[in-house]
Amino acid sequence: MTVDVSTLVSDDAAWISRKVWTDTAVYELEKQAIFGKSWLFLGHESQIRKPGDFVQACMCETPIILSRGHDGQIHANINSCSHRGLPVCRADSGNTKRFICPYHNWSYTVEGDLVTIPQESDVSRKPDKSQLGLKPVPRLESWQGMIFGSFDTDIEPLEDYLGDMRFYLDAFFDRFANGIEFMGAPHRWLLNANWKLPMENQLGDVNHGTFLHGAIIPREAQEQIEEIGYSCVTEPGGHGATFRLMPEGSPVADVAWGMEGMGGMFGGTEVQEYLLEIQARAVERVGDIRSRMKGLTYGIYPNLSFLWSNTSFKVSHPRGPGQVEYWSWAAVPADAPDPVKKILRTNYSSFFGPGGMLEQEDSEAWTQQYIGSKIDFADDKPYYYGLGMGDEKPHPELPGLVSKTANEYYARAFFTRWRKAIEALED
Ligand code: FES
Ligand SMILES: [Fe+2]
Repeated sequence: MTVDVSTLVSDDAAWISRKVWTDTAVYELEKQAIFGKSWLFLGHESQIRKPGDFVQACMCETPIILSRGHDGQIHANINSCSHRGLPVCRADSGNTKRFICPYHNWSYTVEGDLVTIPQESDVSRKPDKSQLGLKPVPRLESWQGMIFGSFDTDIEPLEDYLGDMRFYLDAFFDRFANGIEFMGAPHRWLLNANWKLPMENQLGDVNHGTFLHGAIIPREAQEQIEEIGYSCVTEPGGHGATFRLMPEGSPVADVAWGMEGMGGMFGGTEVQEYLLEIQARAVERVGDIRSRMKGLTYGIYPNLSFLWSNTSFKVSHPRGPGQVEYWSWAAVPADAPDPVKKILRTNYSSFFGPGGMLEQEDSEAWTQQYIGSKIDFADDKPYYYGLGMGDEKPHPELPGLVSKTANEYYARAFFTRWRKAIEALED
């Protein structure tokens, strides 16, 4: 099946075909070219601290068991029995010695090795169990506790893949002496939308805030984003960060990160006091310029996003061109007091959990975009992605290309990488 992607994404990525969002042939190519060739986020080390701990994970449509082996190592195996393919692990998370397939009870270690075949004693030719373990994810690496897997055995090391995005992620992670942890199981829900729109949204689209979320986000907050908000795209495109850069000499209280005012709705002054303490040490931890960042949203190619303001990571797992399963975790500072962690989690879920006030509005927009993209008689009317073309520039202190947030370069860079990946597959 060939698809001419040059007709779907223009050379300057200022025009994107509606078919990019809806075409089944395009989706089949994405599975190979994007999800088969990238580092995909699986989970956080804090979810599997002890030997025998496991959580469900996912790589595009492939179900994965992420576990801590009794060897102390992290393992990722495809959750599919070597006998007839049933999932051998049905629980979302837990601690176990064995995964036992429900059909004929073949059992596997948490490392993925096959241990027992109950029928074995009744057959004369014994199967070679060493060849019948679960299929492992061939590449597995962690950075800052974030675990990624890849189906591409030749992929570059994870740190190189993340590249300069680490500078922006560290602006958050390194503010805390012991980094972050994930709190509880992820929220998971289905949306009738294409996986790329939630991703595009968080890569850099902070301009819908005052419009789509006008009832919740105060106009002054949006004005601040327009004035001191930046969108930064790191090489080779596809990763992006948005943040406000507070002026030099700003009082600590003005810089304390995110929607701290909203967090206060749920917990009095505890969160603010904690954040002020963290912010007071930010310069020594992350340096001057990063200490003045108040992050907004980040995107990591192809489908991981981070909401600094509401401390959550999200993965947009496709389930076909028109459906996405969204996984969303509360990420909290590992050494914050428990009451602060709880408030931050409530803050996250109230705004960006499955029933979150802002999430609901975003979800409706993404669903409507998919419906709009399916209009047959508008196929010759591609979407315009040219806002701010050429305004992105190098910055003396920040890696990548930087611009005001109205520039849609973040999306053009994503789709340029997307197009190249599909072209490389078809060559
Ligand atoms: S399918 Fe798993 S034991 Fe038969
Ligand atoms: Fe939004």
